[in-house]
Amino acid sequence: MREDILKVLITEQELKNKIAQLGAQISRDYADKNLLMVSVLKGSVIFMADLMRAITIHARVDFMAVSSYGSGVKTSGVVKIVKDLDLPLDGYDILIVEDILDSGKTLDYLIDILNQRNPKSIKIATLLDKPERREVNIKPDYSGFVVPDEFVVGYGLDYAEKYRNLPFVGVLKPEVYSH
Ligand code: PRP
Ligand code: MN
Ligand code: MG
Repeated sequence: MREDILKVLITEQELKNKIAQLGAQISRDYADKNLLMVSVLKGSVIFMADLMRAITIHARVDFMAVSSYGSGVKTSGVVKIVKDLDLPLDGYDILIVEDILDSGKTLDYLIDILNQRNPKSIKIATLLDKPERREVNIKPDYSGFVVPDEFVVGYGLDYAEKYRNLPFVGVLKPEVYSH
């Protein structure tokens, strides 16, 4: 697996340090709120698992799975809920936890859906932000790292469902995805 990686972009230690900072910040910001962390499967699971343990206030967690469909590939902008949340959202301050904000279409659509359920607030925490690729006007409230427009995998991020289990974020060798 490691032989498919061109370079390490973010090391395990850098991830750890950044997530500790994010957790401390979120703990302060949500001290008087009613935090519900919503993880968007599958990419966000590793970040979610680490971020929730870096948060020192009461936090509830829930999970949802979405899939894009329509004419195009994954960035068609239309999102179907494959697994919905278990909890009703009224009274909660929602923090959506994502591995990467790319075109922004997934979260743009998801936020519309979740807003209809009358939460107190909705914010976004993303580990990675790739602003060069943005197609809709959406910005993360909490962001770990801004990354260039390269094929990043690891720490939850996949290529063809592989590489999620790498403990760092790396760039895939072009020959791996070009054939
Ligand atoms: C990836 C990533 C984000 C989304 C970002 O998920 O985990 O959820 O795409 O893309 P966007 O900003 O262009 O909408 P993917 O659909 O690959 O599913 P996965 O999390 O199961 O890998
Ligand atoms: Mn995802
Ligand atoms: Mg994916």
